[in-house]
Amino acid sequence: MAAAALCFRGFALSVSCFLLAVPLLMAQDPSNLSLEHYAKTCPNVEHVVRTEMECAGCDGSVLLDDTATLIGEKQAEQNVNSLKGFELVDKIKEKLEAECPGTVSCADLLAIAARDATVLVGGPYWDVPVGRLDSKEASLDLANKDIPTPQQGLITLISKFWEKGLDATDMVALVGSHTIGFARCANFRERIYGDFEMTSKSNPASATYLSKLKEICPLDGGDDNISAMDSYTSSTFDNAYFETLIKGEGL
Ligand code: HEM
Repeated sequence: MAAAALCFRGFALSVSCFLLAVPLLMAQDPSNLSLEHYAKTCPNVEHVVRTEMECAGCDGSVLLDDTATLIGEKQAEQNVNSLKGFELVDKIKEKLEAECPGTVSCADLLAIAARDATVLVGGPYWDVPVGRLDSKEASLDLANKDIPTPQQGLITLISKFWEKGLDATDMVALVGSHTIGFARCANFRERIYGDFEMTSKSNPASATYLSKLKEICPLDGGDDNISAMDSYTSSTFDNAYFETLIKGEGL
């Protein structure tokens, strides 16, 4: 399980491509997806992805590097220094190209790999309908505009998800993916020296948690110091993230 957790750690933010690639994903009709899409053209696709996952935006636009004619999304403010796991995605794509050249989209690869990563860290299995088309374009502006930032409040976050066809319940469920992974001090400093200070005063557990966060994240410096978003079980897919939030110990 430790190896699986490490694997997932490297892959962690590619999972959030679900969110990052939402702007372009919405252009595709989900009813075109099916469980049989690669049944004849690449029957081993799931096996190839899973094998790579074990060892080591849904149109995949987030994967595109900058070129002379295209500015990718990797440098979007919410992605830079945060998104990782691209090497693993490249490796899986290489294996798929060897097995079935020009057949499996990167967007499907990400969707399958996200499911496999979830299973590897103790989460549930679900069937992944496939047949997504890859984007040949990316939009730095849209990525900067649409991806939620850690400073945004509840109403803004609910509206951003709403604009993508997702309601508040969908949003809460999706954010549950913070059961895995870490946040950088630069992203939570404002909160721990801001409203968290006020709300933690009436809750001793919360106050203790806050002082730990402040040790990791001083007022000045340490921007890249990290803290788990699920402070109880940061490499297991479970409900602890939500439980810690309710207790006032959530990041
Ligand atoms: C309300 C919307 C969301 C906000 C404001 C948000 C914010 C953040 C922030 C600030 C971080 C820390 C990044 C860093 O410091 O490098 C983070 C990490 C992460 N987010 Fe979100 N997020 C949201 C929704 C989602 C969704 C929908 C997913 C996936 C379905 C997701 C998956 C992740 C993962 C896996 C990490 C861990 C990354 C790592 O360990 O390197 N997030 N998120």
